[in-house]
Amino acid sequence: MNYPYQINSFDQYQSDYKRSVADPEGFWAGIAENFSWRRKWDKVLEWNFKDPRVEWFMGGKLNITENCLDRHLEKKGDVPAIIWEPNNPEEKSRTLTYSELHKEVCRFANVLKNNGVVKGDRVCIYMGMVPELSVALLACARIGAIHSVIFGGFSAQSIADRLQDARAEYIITCDGAFRGAKDIPLKAIIDDALVTCSFVKRVIVFERTKTPVSMIKGRDVWWLDEMKNAGDDCPAEEMDAEDLLFILYTSGSTGKPKGVVHTCAGYMIWAAYTFVNVFQYQPGDVHFCTADIGWITGHSYIVYGPLAAGATTMIFEGIPTYPDAGRFWEIVDKHNVNILYTAPTAIRSLMSYGTAPLENKNLSSLKTLGTVGEPINEEAWHWYDQHIGKGKCPIVDTWWQTETGGVLISNLAGVTPAKPGYATLPLPGVQPVLLDEKGQIIEGNDVSGNLCIRFPWPGILRTTYGDHERCRTTYFTAYENLYFTGDGCLRDADGFYRITGRVDDVLNVSGHRIGTAEVENAINMHSGVIESAVVGFPHEIKGQGIYAYVIFTGNLEGDLTRKDIAQTVTRIIGPIAKPDKIQFVTGLPKTRSGKIMRRILRKIAEGEMSQLGDTSTLLDPAVVEEIKKGKL
Ligand code: WT7
Repeated sequence: MNYPYQINSFDQYQSDYKRSVADPEGFWAGIAENFSWRRKWDKVLEWNFKDPRVEWFMGGKLNITENCLDRHLEKKGDVPAIIWEPNNPEEKSRTLTYSELHKEVCRFANVLKNNGVVKGDRVCIYMGMVPELSVALLACARIGAIHSVIFGGFSAQSIADRLQDARAEYIITCDGAFRGAKDIPLKAIIDDALVTCSFVKRVIVFERTKTPVSMIKGRDVWWLDEMKNAGDDCPAEEMDAEDLLFILYTSGSTGKPKGVVHTCAGYMIWAAYTFVNVFQYQPGDVHFCTADIGWITGHSYIVYGPLAAGATTMIFEGIPTYPDAGRFWEIVDKHNVNILYTAPTAIRSLMSYGTAPLENKNLSSLKTLGTVGEPINEEAWHWYDQHIGKGKCPIVDTWWQTETGGVLISNLAGVTPAKPGYATLPLPGVQPVLLDEKGQIIEGNDVSGNLCIRFPWPGILRTTYGDHERCRTTYFTAYENLYFTGDGCLRDADGFYRITGRVDDVLNVSGHRIGTAEVENAINMHSGVIESAVVGFPHEIKGQGIYAYVIFTGNLEGDLTRKDIAQTVTRIIGPIAKPDKIQFVTGLPKTRSGKIMRRILRKIAEGEMSQLGDTSTLLDPAVVEEIKKGKL
């Protein structure tokens, strides 16, 4: 059985695409009919990219959890919704059917209500990859609370910044999280964050690792105790199509991370539509997305997309290399995974172990492979194709962003053509354009430029939380009436798109987005640091590594000082932003107006010393020679 909105052939893709451009409102109204509404919309779309203002399905009323849970109960009540695989392969996996998940979500939604959470409240979720994490998201959505999930790799300071920005008064966390051989003390990190966030009223703690925790009277409660006192009947709150569903913080080229806002109906439809079409999900398939729910990939392709489609979705608590580099393949074998969606960095890392970890693993259940997060190099693409897909599984290279809610450019598995290294063609509803330096649209094929989108799709961000002006200036002012992605892009002779990487000061480290300015600010917090400049450099496994040039005063003790600086970054942002290389310098290349010439620093970090271009306009050209000599 197929989904009514499933694209089944290249011809259908082409005709759907044309219709989505010629009559977007008619097209998306047709798709929206396949979801469950309390009340249908009055108008499909109103928009302008000037303010910007985008509203989809105006006047429509719904609750996303009725779409993800209730409507499946009759026919799919006993179908697995979630299959959970623990970090430790010796521990038993868990399956929650749709009726079980529904019951858990309703019960926990009542826990939230019992603890004072009401519609519109912001709830911060800081948990490991346990089924209860999905339950927490859905329970918020059930009662109309706005969730803000924070990835477990962020520090107490980062959590505090996000709590303050969203004024989140409620937190759901775990005592700890198992990740490989490590045990991350989540609750202790929350406690550190809360030193500066006295407005937080309640912390609900799910016990997972039995790590000792301090429970503060009047503030902290145990998940399990609260569940005992809650009923499992919880009618869903009626939400407006454009009510906020969640906030997810992401880094940019300047300032602190911003809270990307997605709303109920458009996001739901985009997540479900892209899930079914990109992966060509068929009912009964087991879908395994290896991302963390703390990132948008997990929101859209572990939780909301699959569940809105009534699919079976895997949650894996651990990491690809624990207890050994065969773990993904063991999971595919054990749970008969049909769709595997992972990141190029994971593929490259596993590739480095050779094919021994694949021995005795039956991967014949696999039908579709996917990648996301960064450009995939051809070597990794071919390894994935040959050794994992055995040359029989289409690979979808899915390009998208936190801001886009779901995939914008990708081939559709087995339905539209693939090309290694290319995200290929836009999904219906997505109208990409390439821009030159002068801001002119580049027509025709075999061209490259900055990637923009000229028409809203249902999953586009609506604002950045608490600061609409920042949303406008970040995405909608670089080019008039266009959404600017921040990515460079090539369109080949056949009209296929290849994303070439960020054109702004944003790094992509192991598929994690990190702003250079943010890392510099963290480094500059170290008492001995006068100034710093951070750039990316090519890294074999991570895609990009972090290279920091640091001007340091006082006693330089080489490696110890490097470790101190790395420790400072870990404290301020989290371990994911730790620099790979720190080079001490006495000055930075600057223009006469004092602007750091990052282009030069980037070239040096990349090892392209001979291609520095004109350095004569620099304030102090000699500094470049010194930096070149000291390159790590
Ligand atoms: C940035 C968005 C999309 C979810 C994970 C990352 C890069 C993403 C691809 C791809 C080349 C890609 C872009 C984009 N990116 N997918 N298939 N090919 N680059 O979400 O943290 O919002 O980062 O990741 O540079 O702008 P994110």
